[in-house]
Amino acid sequence: MTSEQIRKLFFEFFKERGHAIAPSSPLIPDDPSVLLTTAGMQQFKRYFTGELNPINDFGSQRTTSIQKCFRTSDIEEVGDETHLTFFEMMGNFSFGPVGTDDPKDRGVGGYFKRSAIYWGYEFITGVLGVDPKRITASIFKGDTEVPRDEISYRIWNEELGLPEGRIMESDRKDNFWGPTGNEGPCGPTSEIYVDGVEVWNLVFNEYYQHADKRLEKLESPGVDTGMGFERLVAVMQGARNVFETDLLRPVTDRVYELAPGLSERAARIFTDHVRAAVFLVADWVRPSNKGAGYILRRHIRRMLAYKIKEDVHVDLLPELVEMVGKKYGGIYPGVSRSEEIIAVLEDERSRFEKAVGQGILELESYKEKGKKIDGQIAFHLYETFGLPFELIKELVPKELAKDLSKEEFEGEFVKHQEVSRAGQERKFGGHGLILDTGELKAGNPEELQKVTRLHTATHLLHQALRDVLGMTVGQMGSDITVERTRFDFSFPRKLTPEEVRGVEEIVNKKIKEDLPVSYTEMLKGEAEKTGALHFFKLKYPEKVKVYFVGKSFDAAYSKEFCGGPHVTHTGEIGKFRVAKEEAVAAGVRRIRGVVE
Ligand code: ALA
Repeated sequence: MTSEQIRKLFFEFFKERGHAIAPSSPLIPDDPSVLLTTAGMQQFKRYFTGELNPINDFGSQRTTSIQKCFRTSDIEEVGDETHLTFFEMMGNFSFGPVGTDDPKDRGVGGYFKRSAIYWGYEFITGVLGVDPKRITASIFKGDTEVPRDEISYRIWNEELGLPEGRIMESDRKDNFWGPTGNEGPCGPTSEIYVDGVEVWNLVFNEYYQHADKRLEKLESPGVDTGMGFERLVAVMQGARNVFETDLLRPVTDRVYELAPGLSERAARIFTDHVRAAVFLVADWVRPSNKGAGYILRRHIRRMLAYKIKEDVHVDLLPELVEMVGKKYGGIYPGVSRSEEIIAVLEDERSRFEKAVGQGILELESYKEKGKKIDGQIAFHLYETFGLPFELIKELVPKELAKDLSKEEFEGEFVKHQEVSRAGQERKFGGHGLILDTGELKAGNPEELQKVTRLHTATHLLHQALRDVLGMTVGQMGSDITVERTRFDFSFPRKLTPEEVRGVEEIVNKKIKEDLPVSYTEMLKGEAEKTGALHFFKLKYPEKVKVYFVGKSFDAAYSKEFCGGPHVTHTGEIGKFRVAKEEAVAAGVRRIRGVVE
């Protein structure tokens, strides 16, 4: 079965069932809290909430689409068998009051779990002809806030006859979806698997999650489903992975023809990234250092880096751009603007070569000499030529990169930041003040060292307060001088002496453990999802630094939005003590802490 047949069958199936076919929205969503479109439901957010009436706009409460999507959190993984940054997502949606929820109802009213699950099952087994024995499903198992999805379980088990052993149950992490961006519709999910591969995610939007994570029941529950097109095609074509489908195989084949001997990883990176770049440019994104422009730049530069790494001299991008344009132009006319797209890529290439070409040459000469690349050299390459760490890492062969650690690189980065900030303050006549970020103030290098220690201690303090007093603690202000840190936070009463001691103990324990302190940069929305602490009163840029204390980001004790500087290891802080605890306003407490 070809991918084009699957596309057609999908639309026909849902059209017959009263759905209006909605065109894909652009990759740049109209929701400013989300950088790129990551799911089919995004363009329909306001129909789920009842703000817009689907009957007025579509003549039906049911829509279906195949949406252009982009997910970048796994960009480093592209090159393996499963990851893609750009992909298409098939979906069917229901908004507004639920009607009969009878799968036989071919009308235009709203539906819910029964119709969504029946139709999902029918499309996969009946239309695509997948043997029902290959199907398994999952449902939401329930937690303290959201009950177990009994209804979906019963539909799968009693009505569709899926035995108990083939219905998995999982938690928020796996069987609850949304919202996209800061807030929006979300709810428990039921997934459909073929041969153990998840193909379809059925989301039952019963809630609206507010920016403060509070869940509110939606007036009418909705249905939002998503099925990764490339993955479904791979399953239907018996392909070993998405690159072996009729969607991507021709591009990968051409890559190999143009650059024989290329590694499989590089060939996949070209295949994914060129398609992704074409779609971004077609939606008017241009390379830049910010937002979607940065994502495009990263895709193009990563391809260029691989060209250098694998010694590819032929200019393969223009031809691949045209190929993608021809393949997808019938569905997405914008991608056929090959000439314009090639010009954008070419322009970026010449910038890249000018900016980092020298650095790559220098790196190449290190490689020829067999010189090991460590964090310090990597930082030198970054500072002098703008070579990003990720690129250096990809360009250096493993045997020379044994000493290349992100921590050391970032340590150098922080040191450099302090020095250059200090330099800037001097240059701009900072009245002797070498560092004033609003939060930290220092007048000379010794003071800078002291406030840096206090700054990291403040992060530990913030987390320790939450450990001891609970989640109501939120930062209300912070000011650090060479004598002390002053931290204001929301909490309704005076702390007991035991609580103060508990906080001190935790901070000092983390200091003793001598944990590394580093940071990572991520998109604000993603950073928020990691639970990293931040100061709600501040407006953060799209891309934020998240400092973390611990051996890895996931295992970090403290994660916090912050511009630095920080010590490189908590041991440098010394001993922390709470000097004073007092009230500043109703519901706001203030701690003065010192390090000694
Ligand atoms: N919106 C859901 C997803 O992206 C269907 O998985």
